[in-house]
Amino acid sequence: MELVVYDDYQTLSRQTAKYIAELVRKKPNTVLGLATGSTPLGLYQELVHLYNEKEIDFKDVLTFNLDEYVGLPKEHPQSYYYFMNQHLFSKVNIAKNNIHFPRGIFTDPKEACREYEKQLTEVDHIDLQILGIGSNGHIGFNEPAKRMTLDTHITDLAPRTIQDNARFFNDSNEVPRQAITMGIGSIMRAKTILLMAHKESKAEAIDAIFSGVVDPNLPASILQLHSNVLVLVNKEVANRL
Ligand code: GLP
Repeated sequence: MELVVYDDYQTLSRQTAKYIAELVRKKPNTVLGLATGSTPLGLYQELVHLYNEKEIDFKDVLTFNLDEYVGLPKEHPQSYYYFMNQHLFSKVNIAKNNIHFPRGIFTDPKEACREYEKQLTEVDHIDLQILGIGSNGHIGFNEPAKRMTLDTHITDLAPRTIQDNARFFNDSNEVPRQAITMGIGSIMRAKTILLMAHKESKAEAIDAIFSGVVDPNLPASILQLHSNVLVLVNKEVANRL
């Protein structure tokens, strides 16, 4: 795992977008694993900018998003699908069929998980996985637990996650209590992983993932066992490590 420190959030976002554009130039049908949350917002803005400058073509790119809230339909403004559509998909030439998302609305939870797992298996692996990190060390919605779950699964959100994500809702009672998330297995099968963090509140979790201890109570700590992970931070985070 390598720590890369950028001066500021904009540089971090811009350099990450350039990295993705370079990859897509070399492999037009790159499989991208995408994250939501406030962390990758700058990245998506930069990707849209590069697309407008004809520096990246999404025509053959495939995407797999990490997670979705259970119970929120695609049209809900706080659903992760809505977020991705608003900030990236609707602004670039990605093919609808190439966008993959776990379903937040389902009658059979097992079937919804199987369906996403099957789609992930069909591409074999993600070429480049973008990750943010929860202040409790979660990746996607793989929350701290007694053991890690390898496959797509439904998870109860940790109280801290509900609290952290309440800022996007009118009230913390509106935050869904469950999510469907890609498992640790698919994340770890990605060829390259870029974990981004720019807020001081993430410093503790970032510090812990370099500790040499792999702990299911800090899911991101598993990344230490991956051979190609870049942890991209700004100075604010780096100064607190
Ligand atoms: C959310 C998402 C994660 C994201 C994290 C950090 O709950 N499920 O994929 O990395 O929380 O969010 P933010 O970037 O807004 O701090």
